[in-house]
Amino acid sequence: MPRSDTRHPRPVWSFREYAPVGVDLGSAAAVAAYDGNQGTDPAADDALLDRLGVTAGTRLIDLACGTGSLVVQAARRGAQAHGVDVSEQMLRHAEARAERLDAAPHWHLAGFLDYAHTAGPADVVTTRSALHQLPDFWKQQALVNAAAMLRPGGTFYLWDVVFSFDPADTDARLQHWIDASGTDGGFTRSDYETHVREEFSTYAWVLEGMLERAGLTIVSRAFPRPTHAEYVCARR
Ligand SMILES: C[S@@+](CC[C@H](N)C(=O)[O-])C[C@H]1O[C@@H](n2cnc3c(N)ncnc32)[C@H](O)[C@@H]1O
Repeated sequence: MPRSDTRHPRPVWSFREYAPVGVDLGSAAAVAAYDGNQGTDPAADDALLDRLGVTAGTRLIDLACGTGSLVVQAARRGAQAHGVDVSEQMLRHAEARAERLDAAPHWHLAGFLDYAHTAGPADVVTTRSALHQLPDFWKQQALVNAAAMLRPGGTFYLWDVVFSFDPADTDARLQHWIDASGTDGGFTRSDYETHVREEFSTYAWVLEGMLERAGLTIVSRAFPRPTHAEYVCARR
């Protein structure tokens, strides 16, 4: 499926969402290693799509889709699937995956802030392991943009590094997370340190206020670890 240019111009004062933040994921080497480091698993993607009720005809948008596994699995079950990412390298990898698996999703070189969805209201918008790339002020704008893509009652799914521990315990909790890194392969200790220092993960209660203010009602929340959160929301 050819790519379409679906960006709307942003003012000069807008956040530079195409500039790399934190851990380098944009180089050819980083993209080639990404699925192994991240533990990308099409079976897990299928399980998530089942949970979100994605079937043939569902219109799904995955924001910051990376190497595109979720989008490709959605397309393979007949969904109208859109993958959006600011990284040319990531999209190329995603396109190659789609071609290999004979799937035809729509790909968009665009960001959380400048993606202008024109293909009709979405039933499901997802974003995983990526919203932390934006500072909080811009996360709110990204969530407003994401909510606007959804039909009323449509589902917004978010998974990310989000902190649910008591702020008084921050040093100990983060050190514990960093110390546990790299024990099962994947990203390194230095990657985790860079994440904390240079990326913009925030507290769960901050994010929850943003979701509500974007017009999204939180239907379920889960904190499988004090450093990670999952939200399923419905657009009001
Ligand atoms: C850690 S990866 C997550 C990829 C994928 N969602 C996954 O779960 O494997 C973060 C992705 O966010 C993308 N990204 C960073 N900033 C972005 C932005 N402002 N808008 C859209 N994508 C962005 C990066 O290019 C990268 O592909």
